[in-house]
Amino acid sequence: MSAEKNDKYNLLLKQVQGLLNPSDPVLTNICNFIAAINETFPIISWIGFYFIKDNILYLGPFQGKTACTKIKMGKGVCGTAAIELKTQVVENVQKFPGHIACDAESNSEIVIPLLNEGKVYGVLDLDSKEFSAFDNIDREWLEKICSELTNKIDLSKVI
Ligand code: SME
Repeated sequence: MSAEKNDKYNLLLKQVQGLLNPSDPVLTNICNFIAAINETFPIISWIGFYFIKDNILYLGPFQGKTACTKIKMGKGVCGTAAIELKTQVVENVQKFPGHIACDAESNSEIVIPLLNEGKVYGVLDLDSKEFSAFDNIDREWLEKICSELTNKIDLSKVI
């Protein structure tokens, strides 16, 4: 299973490296970025960005059902990742204090802060209907893939 997962992430990383183009608009880049991740892992039920403006996380491009429009820094899984600058891997969202239930069918979640040179621009949020859908393998790869994004694309211009 983990070998298969690593293989998928290896391909995904190459795909993302090929897709990201700093000459294209930020929006163009980030839309295909989430589509590539989403189509690689059918276990994902919702994937999307929240970007920080005036200390609030605002919903960005996503794939999935309608979601919460804004989240306060420090609130929910997203706000925690953004304030602690640390990826949150949540096996069971019901057990995460302050979890914000956008979709009642979501059972597990991973949120990666979007960091560049110590500054946080927002988060990438992935949800699943399965419990424990995400683990440390996902954390390592998604952090790597998000670094590709934040190194190549200037997210300060997104919102
Ligand atoms: N569950 C998240 C909110 C965003 S949705 O899952 C799309 C949270 O607790 O921050």
